[in-house]
Amino acid sequence: MTSPKAIKPVDTERLAPDERGINRAVDLLTAGELVAFPTETVYGLGANALESRAVAGVFAAKERPVFNPLIVHVPSLDVADVVGDVSGDAERLAGAFWPGPLTIVVPARDDSGLSDLVTSGLETVAIRVPAHPLARRLLEEFGGPIAAPSANRSGRVSPTSADHVLAELDGRIAAVLDGGSCPIGLESTIVSFPEDGPPVLLRPGGLPVEIIETALRTKLAMPEGERLLAPGMMRSHYAPQAKMRLNAQAPEPGEVWLGFGPGRNARHVPGLNLSPYADLTEAATNLFAYLRRLDGPDVTIAVAPIPESGLGRAINDRLRRAAAER
Ligand code: TXA
Ligand code: MG
Repeated sequence: MTSPKAIKPVDTERLAPDERGINRAVDLLTAGELVAFPTETVYGLGANALESRAVAGVFAAKERPVFNPLIVHVPSLDVADVVGDVSGDAERLAGAFWPGPLTIVVPARDDSGLSDLVTSGLETVAIRVPAHPLARRLLEEFGGPIAAPSANRSGRVSPTSADHVLAELDGRIAAVLDGGSCPIGLESTIVSFPEDGPPVLLRPGGLPVEIIETALRTKLAMPEGERLLAPGMMRSHYAPQAKMRLNAQAPEPGEVWLGFGPGRNARHVPGLNLSPYADLTEAATNLFAYLRRLDGPDVTIAVAPIPESGLGRAINDRLRRAAAER
């Protein structure tokens, strides 16, 4: 693994979401530098996916274990099929939901030119076509695949604003393209398509599982054991400094409160409400930003119950990982 000392500090540029900013981002990516950019889910830390030196920089800046592969971002389904074999159910699903918060894991093509670091040497590759207009312009102008994990240090909460990116990676990356807040606020849903057997849900995310199952007219398999899991889905992840107490009916003395839905529970307690009207879409958008705001060294965050349906499934997944023993 790379030690943080190996990183030479740089002045991280904050690029405006205009033509000049995009041109600068493209120039930096072309020169093998790292540029964080907004997607509709979370900010990604982008590198030229064809260049091992650039991709290695991503692992170093994030202090990410090299066995944890990256998602390849491309502008279209056609380009995705150059990187991996996108056929059958994978093609149908991508056709229905791209651009959007869906990542597919399919067999990698040998002649794609991708750096082996992107896939951590696996025979499969994770691919996504993002919908955010700035991400789309960046991909089109750059003209090649961009490898991009979430733009946080490994194991931490994903960033949903340029400020969050800078809080994590200032001085370690060349630039961040500032597109404001990410509209969805949760990472993409990852579905893999094994050559035998049904599609597998590797990570619940911004595209609800129910919608995917309806489109494919089949139930997704849930990963069995560690082998099938996305390598990055460790049990403890999205780790705030604070302790977390989930499914709380009310805060206890000394706790801060992360509420959901209407309620008087938190009237006299410091806290935030993910969605006073119990809207899961709004709650997803706020989740990571609110965790950051409430976080602190001697803090316990009591979290109201969130329904386990639609986006609630991904929200609860992230909360459980944030609460896991570390
Ligand atoms: O919304 C998103 O997906 C964001 C934006 C930036 O696109 N990206 C993101 O990347 O969340 P990251 O690296 O934080 O999470 C990607 C996950 C990791 O858990 C990784 O292990 C898994 O995808 N993954 C990547 N390639 C894989 C593969 N070939 N097989 C299984 N899992 C894979
Ligand atoms: Mg991540």
